[in-house]
Amino acid sequence: MNRIQRVGVVGAGAMGRGIAQVCASGGLIVKLYDSSQEAVSRGIQAVRDDLAQAVAKSKMSQAQADEALSRIHAVNDLKALCDCDLVVEAIVEQLEPKQRLFRELESILAPGSILATNTSSLSVTAIASVCELPSRVAGWHFFNPVPRMKLVEVIQAPRTALEVVQELVALSKKVGHRAVVTSDSPGFVVNHAGRAYVTEGLKLLAERTAEHHVLDAILRICAGIRMGPLELLDLTGLDVSVPVMESIHSQYYGDDRYRPVTLARTRLHAGLLGRKSGQGFYDYSAKGVTPKSESEQPLPSIETTLWWPTQGPASLPDSIAALLPADKRRSSPAEADVIMVAPIGQDLSSTIVALGLDGAKAIAVDPIFGSAAGVTLMVCPATAAETVEAARRLFTSRSVPTFVISDSPGFVAPRVVACIVNLACEMAQQGISSPDDIDSAVRLALGYPSGPFEWGDRLGARLVLEIMQGLYSTFGDQRYRPAPWLIRRARLGLSLSAADRKV
Ligand SMILES: NC(=O)c1ccc[n+]([C@@H]2O[C@H](COP(=O)([O-])OP(=O)(O)OC[C@H]3O[C@@H](n4cnc5c(N)ncnc54)[C@H](O)[C@@H]3O)[C@@H](O)[C@H]2O)c1
Repeated sequence: MNRIQRVGVVGAGAMGRGIAQVCASGGLIVKLYDSSQEAVSRGIQAVRDDLAQAVAKSKMSQAQADEALSRIHAVNDLKALCDCDLVVEAIVEQLEPKQRLFRELESILAPGSILATNTSSLSVTAIASVCELPSRVAGWHFFNPVPRMKLVEVIQAPRTALEVVQELVALSKKVGHRAVVTSDSPGFVVNHAGRAYVTEGLKLLAERTAEHHVLDAILRICAGIRMGPLELLDLTGLDVSVPVMESIHSQYYGDDRYRPVTLARTRLHAGLLGRKSGQGFYDYSAKGVTPKSESEQPLPSIETTLWWPTQGPASLPDSIAALLPADKRRSSPAEADVIMVAPIGQDLSSTIVALGLDGAKAIAVDPIFGSAAGVTLMVCPATAAETVEAARRLFTSRSVPTFVISDSPGFVAPRVVACIVNLACEMAQQGISSPDDIDSAVRLALGYPSGPFEWGDRLGARLVLEIMQGLYSTFGDQRYRPAPWLIRRARLGLSLSAADRKV
């Protein structure tokens, strides 16, 4: 292990220079090559600047920065990589130039050396298919900016030797990154696991469950995710995100789990790309008005009486009941102005019908992600405007941020989180990666507060399954079919991380 001492990096753009930097900082000799010599000079300057910043922030000493820089050598001929133990490719994201490069590298390098690609969307198997020794080809997929994103995916194509994977995992650790091992499948781990968040966020918007800023605020405030899905799309740009969404959907042969909503492409055609075009879901122009992302201002509560079930399928949890005035609770729904229910995986309309409630007085509150930090109220076509106002003021008068949405089985946060967990379960079932690796990848690269398996276990596999079943039965849409991995562990009462028994 750790026999790799010399690394060649081909492509000195945003990724190649970052890979060169972390390898050199990890003590390796790096040879940096690019078809443009200017790109190499720019790349080395960028590394120098970044290391200077690290010194300024006391993250490394000047001597360490100087040593790291001295280990990076610009080379102007691919043949100069002949003594490298590993060559990492970070050139243009097109199959043919990558295949051409790998064929050329094979003729230069010793048979025992490793060839790695930093591709983010191409098949590693397809790149390796032109090589005489595909067993030494693997993916080593970093994230941008490489020195700060401490995750790397090690992609094992069907013919990649296990030792190659093990060497790359060990090397990742040496250069300060957490490696997750994945099979060669569309999106690998991070771009696959991240599908559920943006795709479901867009689906909620397309259903007009709430406005974009309300959906974003719920996911930030109630679920604790750093950035809402629509602000995230604005940051990435629909010109980047829509092709990725469509490509993954088609690479999985149109599986409905990955189906994007049409409004994303329509907005792309309209040039509403996001920050880069000055207008996306939000307005970034100088005169743009940022919509209130938080809930309405606190208003005094309206004199109102309440009833909520304390047992049964839509009963209010104590944590929510504690936010309500107990003295206003009446002993039956008929005596109350507002009926508050907390269904799991069901929308308000079906809850009203199932419990035989007066629709005009009924409103639902999210029992899972609701707390003093924020609550989500769900209304349906039968809910009276006075009911909405009275319910909203019950919370806002106590300074609890309150978001109102239309009927959605699983509200917003539980629905999105259940989809994230369900998709991760599907990935584990397919052996794309292990639960532990998927959790680390999602936390480190996507910045979710928990990995999907940790999150699912905290909520409970049965609860996640109930939400998915509710979504599936309401919409009749295959995108919500519960993953067998989730169903089995929920039924058996096991952790979602419990591995399959090897047979
Ligand atoms: N930018 C990202 O966020 C990101 C993240 C992960 C992976 N990737 C992947 O990393 C790779 C590089 O991306 P990037 O953003 O650094 O691109 P980039 O455009 O910044 O840099 C690519 C560099 O490769 C050079 N190049 C192109 N063809 C070459 C060839 N045949 N031989 C030698 N050099 C060549 C170019 O001159 C350029 O300097 C792509 O495969 C991309 O999908 C990018």
